Amino acid sequence: MGVTAARATWVSLGEGSTPLVRAPRLSEALGLDLHVKCEGLNPTGSFKDRGMAVAVERAADAGVHTVVCASTGNTAASAATYAARAGLRAVVLTPAGATASAKRAQAHAAGATVLEIRGSFDDALRLCRELGQRDGFRLVNSVNPDRLDGQRSVVGELLAELGEAPDVIALPYGGGGNVTAIARGCAEAGIEPALVVGEAAERPTTFATAIRIGDPAHRASVEALVDAGRLTVVTLSEEELGDAWRRLVREEGVFCEPASAAGVAALARLELRGTAVAIVTGHGLKDTGAVDASSARVVDATVDAVLEVLR
Ligand code: F0G
Repeated sequence: MGVTAARATWVSLGEGSTPLVRAPRLSEALGLDLHVKCEGLNPTGSFKDRGMAVAVERAADAGVHTVVCASTGNTAASAATYAARAGLRAVVLTPAGATASAKRAQAHAAGATVLEIRGSFDDALRLCRELGQRDGFRLVNSVNPDRLDGQRSVVGELLAELGEAPDVIALPYGGGGNVTAIARGCAEAGIEPALVVGEAAERPTTFATAIRIGDPAHRASVEALVDAGRLTVVTLSEEELGDAWRRLVREEGVFCEPASAAGVAALARLELRGTAVAIVTGHGLKDTGAVDASSARVVDATVDAVLEVLR
């Protein structure tokens, strides 16, 4: 198949080998044979681990002492975790007040230096590009090619699980690193599925905090794929994102964080046919604040009180 699963690294925590599950109800609704690649089941709960294992191992092998990244949360959690495993320091910069607390908790727990900057993700990335130039520091955002090297492994895996090339692969578009890696993985595997990405119309403020990115780092590569006829970009409303996110868990049992549903939301907009794989990028437990907790109800500890609610 051309692309092999992620090579075992000495810092590996078993990233990859995530489940590919069929989504029968959404398949029916969308007129596709839809399968969901559950990337939230990676060691730190997002697809970032595939590339981070490779990037951190190579950083350690190169003798750096500190890995640095800007993050809306998942990259931070992943960098912090693999840095801990490799015995490196991790410094992560997140936009203050704009990321999910569970992701920051992961980074803190792993001993990273977590700095919430007064600025956006784009500001944080600008700072990190500069810090990454310093002696002993290495940038582990997806502008580091080692990240994309690792992330493309998802293609070989989904081919093996599906047993054939899908007609469509759909995924979220934040900075565009993942679709760049997946396009490369497809080319190496000799397959040409239609690629579809979903981005938030309200990029800097979307409720899908993982993709609050104003200025995508891989925009040029995304535009080149569009020009080559390989990729369709769908710009999604908050309602479309929220609808796909809720349907994934309520109709298929796949609980992901809101940004992760952007590929499915994009498919819902287009009228494509055939076999599709949606890359669902992060676990729902990453962002429980996004779930409407107002539906919780407190009742007396009696059967009657419970039945009263169910009536
Ligand atoms: N889905 C999730 C859950 C993400 O965390 C991200 C990016 C994306 C999709 C977008 O992927 O940037 O390769 O197009 N999260 C980054 C972070 C920005 O800092 O964790 P992309």
